[in-house]
Amino acid sequence: MTDAPVTPSLFVIFGASGDLSRRKILPALHQLHVHGSTAAGCVVLGLSRKPAFDDAAFRAIATAAITDDSAPAADIASWAGTFLHGQTIGAGTSADFVVLRERIAALEAVHGMFGVRVFYVALPPDSFPATIAALGNAGLAVSEGETRLVIEKPFGRDLRSSRELNVLVHAHFGEEQVYRIDHYLGKETVQNMMVFRFANAMFENLWNRNHIESVQITVSEALGVEGRAEYYEGAGALRDMVQSHLTQLLALVAMEVPGSMDAAATRPEKIKALRAIAPIAPSDAVLGQYAAGRIDDMDVPGYREEPGVAGNSRTETFAAIRLHIENWRWQGVPFYLRTGKRLGTRVTEIEVKFRRAPVWMFREMQQGELHRNTLVMTLQPNEGFSLYFDVKAPGEPFRVQRLPLHFSYAEAFTVIPEAYQTLLLDVLRGDQTLFVHAEEVEVAWTLYTPLLDGAVGVLPYPAGSEGPMEAAQLSSR
Ligand code: BG6
Repeated sequence: MTDAPVTPSLFVIFGASGDLSRRKILPALHQLHVHGSTAAGCVVLGLSRKPAFDDAAFRAIATAAITDDSAPAADIASWAGTFLHGQTIGAGTSADFVVLRERIAALEAVHGMFGVRVFYVALPPDSFPATIAALGNAGLAVSEGETRLVIEKPFGRDLRSSRELNVLVHAHFGEEQVYRIDHYLGKETVQNMMVFRFANAMFENLWNRNHIESVQITVSEALGVEGRAEYYEGAGALRDMVQSHLTQLLALVAMEVPGSMDAAATRPEKIKALRAIAPIAPSDAVLGQYAAGRIDDMDVPGYREEPGVAGNSRTETFAAIRLHIENWRWQGVPFYLRTGKRLGTRVTEIEVKFRRAPVWMFREMQQGELHRNTLVMTLQPNEGFSLYFDVKAPGEPFRVQRLPLHFSYAEAFTVIPEAYQTLLLDVLRGDQTLFVHAEEVEVAWTLYTPLLDGAVGVLPYPAGSEGPMEAAQLSSR
C-alpha cells in the first residue's frame, strides 16, 4: 500500500511446481516485471521435491503457466530465462537446506544482490512446520538484508494448532518478518472498503448501531470442490472461508477508524473489533453440504459423489453464522456471515441495511416488506456499490419504489489488478498492512473453534439452491 521502491530481491518459492505457484504466484511475479515494479531485479528460485527440478524444468513450468495475451511468448521466455532458477529440495533434510543456502548465496553473488529475501511457503498446510523450522535451523531466517516469510492459509486447523504454529514461526522469525496471506485483502474491492469508509466522511456518522439494522456478508460460489477434495475434506467451509476471508471482511466493516493506513495502525483496530465479538453458540450457526442438483442448466453431482470425497463425509460446504459485536458501535446489530459452494448465485457482497424511517408515511404506496436504505458493496463479480433509495414512481397511482444509485468499477476503470499481484508487491516492499497478524489469526480461531468438528449438524441442500432453508431462518429468528 506504499509506493516504496522494490529493492533487488531473491524470491524463493517452496512448491514451485504446484498449483498455487502456477496459477497465482508466477503470473503475478511476471505481471510485476511487465509493469516495471521489480525493475531493480527480482530473481526467483523455484523449489520442488521433484528429483530433476532444475532451471530448465522451472522455466518450462513457468512459461506454460503464464498465459498472458498482452505479453508475447518470447518476452515471457526471456523473463524466465533471465530471472528464474529451479532446484530440487529433495526430502527437505538439513543437508538439503545447506545446499539451498549455498545456492542462494551463489545466486545473490551472480545477480549482485545483498540479502533481501522472500521465502514463500506455497505448500500444503501439513508441510508448513517442517519447512519453517528447517529454514530457521539452516540459518536462513536472517540475512545481511531483510528476510521475509510468506505463509498461505489455512494457518492452523483450530485455536490450539494455530497457536502452536505461531510459536514455531516466532521461534525463528520475528512477527515483522511474517506475511500471512489472505488473498481477499489483496482484492482491489476489499481495499476500497477502507477508502469508502475512511475517505468519505458522510458514512462515518451513520456507521453504528443508531443507524444500521444489520450487516450481511455473503461469499456465494457456484463452483464445487474442483478436484481439491484431499484438502477440502479436512477443511470445510468454516476453515476454508469463514475463519479467513469472511472474518477479514467482517473486521474491515466493523473496525474503528485507524489513525493511518499502515499495518501498525490498522491491524490493532481489526483485532479489537474481532475481540469484541460475543462467543458464537452452535445454535447461531447453520452448516450444509451440497447434494446433487442443477447449476446453469447442467446436472452436477453431490459433494459425496465428487472424486476423493468419502461417501459418508460430514464436511460442510456451506456455513451461515449470526454473531454480535459487543462494543458501543455495534451492540444489538446482528452480523450474518454466509458462504457456500455450489450455490445458485456467484456473488461476494456486503449488505448494510440501515434502519427505516421512524415514521413510515408511505406504507400503502409500496409493495412487499418495508423498505430500508441499503448499501450493497459488491466485491465480485460486477464490482461496485449500490445504495438503495425509495423514490416516487412517476404518475398515478402514487407508488414508492426502491431504486439503486450505482458505482461500477467496470464503467469507471479499465483494469483491476489481481490480488496476488498487489500482495506480492507489498511483500517485496515490506508492507504488512494487507497481511494477517498472529493475534488476528488466533482471535478468529477462538471464535469458530467451538463450531468445528461435529459441534453443529450438517444439513443437505441441493446444488443450485441458496443453501439449507434453516440458514434463511437465522435472520428471522
Ligand atoms: C480460497 C478457497 O481461499 O478462496 C476456495 O480455498 C475458494 O475454496 C476461493 O473457492 C475463493 O476465492 P475467490 O477469489 O474466487 O473469491
